[in-house]
Amino acid sequence: MAKPVVYVLNGPNLNLLGLREPEIYGSDTLDDIAGMLEDRARELGLDIEMRQSNHEGHLVDWLHEAQAEEAKAVLLNAAAYTHTSIAILDAIKAIRTPVIEVHLSDPMTRESFRHVSYVGMGAVAEVKGLGARSYLVALEKAAEL
Ligand code: DQA
Repeated sequence: MAKPVVYVLNGPNLNLLGLREPEIYGSDTLDDIAGMLEDRARELGLDIEMRQSNHEGHLVDWLHEAQAEEAKAVLLNAAAYTHTSIAILDAIKAIRTPVIEVHLSDPMTRESFRHVSYVGMGAVAEVKGLGARSYLVALEKAAEL
């Protein structure tokens, strides 16, 4: 039998992790994070579908796809779109697949424009501020859903 799939969707500028403001986001690349998630997913009996895009509409399409593919959950680091995108909030609300909000940093301790989270208005849970480990903790939460 196929293992349950967890989609891990990553928004703009996260392709530059490792190089991008390492004092805030750490030195792990997105590929490093994918590797950690795959190892943990294997232990949890899950499959991972990891994606990244700098384009808002791709994230909307992939949220729809997660439901169409009957994914167990979506881990979503929408990056800056977290704080701006009603389209992504509507997509989260449009699907039944549970979405867990993920951030490497803790946006609440940063600039005030990061304090609003449209993603958070639709997500079932959030994990933030733990660096790359935020993704692992979120995956463990997804496994319990
Ligand atoms: C981020 C936090 C966002 O505020 C920011 O725009 C990002 C990354 C994080 O993972 O800490 O691009 O989502």
